[in-house]
Amino acid sequence: MKILILGVNGFIGHHLTKRILAEKSGWTVYGMDLGTERLGESLTNPRFNFLEGDIAINKEWIEYHIKKCDVVMPLVAIATPKLYVEDPIAVYNLDFEMNVNIVKLCVKYHKRVVFPSTSEVYGACTEPEFKEDESFLVTGPINKERWIYSCCKQLLDRVIYAYGTRGQLEFTLFRPFNWVGPRLDSLNTAKEGSSRVVTQFIAELLMNRPINLVDGGRQKRCFTYVDDGIAALVRILENKNDICKNQIINIGNPANECSVKELAEILKKLFQEHPEHKNDKSYSEILDISADTYYGKGYQDIYTRKPSIEKARKLLNWEPQIGLEESMKLTLNSFLEENRNAVI
Ligand code: UGA
Repeated sequence: MKILILGVNGFIGHHLTKRILAEKSGWTVYGMDLGTERLGESLTNPRFNFLEGDIAINKEWIEYHIKKCDVVMPLVAIATPKLYVEDPIAVYNLDFEMNVNIVKLCVKYHKRVVFPSTSEVYGACTEPEFKEDESFLVTGPINKERWIYSCCKQLLDRVIYAYGTRGQLEFTLFRPFNWVGPRLDSLNTAKEGSSRVVTQFIAELLMNRPINLVDGGRQKRCFTYVDDGIAALVRILENKNDICKNQIINIGNPANECSVKELAEILKKLFQEHPEHKNDKSYSEILDISADTYYGKGYQDIYTRKPSIEKARKLLNWEPQIGLEESMKLTLNSFLEENRNAVI
């Protein structure tokens, strides 16, 4: 199988590539990205073909490779909430417009697309567990610009689904729920305060800056270790007996639900126990901050977000394995290892 991954140097793209190259000897990956810093040894693997390029510029290369490959994974997107508020137009241009063009090329060349939807499409849904084919998708008013990401992704889901039901596209939409792990976000994005919460908190601990709990940190997320997520994705790509054809599948770990405040406490404890930091003179304080101060007026939070994974269990015969504390430990240790010599 030939797989085209756009955004192959991203968090999901590089982990998936590494796993495919290690476990699937008959599969070849064609990847494009702006950079290579996460790709490591994959770059020298003969079954990995890489172009350093831009989805907005290298259009001929993309069209040629969509034609050439069997499956297309368009993983290029802005996925950090701070940027939804700061630059909603950039989110729309990249996350929607660029991606809808790729989807249309998959329609044109009859190629299967495995597309990243997001837990964010459920928005402020109040159901105890979000179900792919039943739950309401709830967003806030237009002046809360945070929802542009959710809306872009939702509209793409609807466009892809409509092509699918009209027989013009074979697709699988997967919805990651707060995947975490090595190389989620960089220290540099955390310095600017625009990382996702787990990297942001680990980086604050490393920089000995305060950990900010937005609105007291009572919001809950189900943090899912990336290796579990990637295992599900590989099964989606395998697509045995066409089981994932035109399906939407949540990929998350409901057992790992915790509040942002609990998350801060776990990470601080793990940092204080870490061999290189157990003798530090002082540690980050955990402070409350208002959402307006942290993100600006265009932000609105999501208080609970728990996936139903019945569909993933049934279709993929998959079950997440890695618990919350273990996920955090693996993520923290790898971040500290990779930033051991970083200038802070
Ligand atoms: C994320 C992003 O939208 C996407 O990466 C993705 O599609 C989706 O969720 C997902 O991975 O499932 P969110 O969970 O809100 O959204 O993003 P984080 O930035 O990781 O924030 C989680 C929570 O921590 C939020 O309630 C936020 O207010 C809080 N937070 C964040 C803090 O309390 N302090 C911080 O310093 C940063």
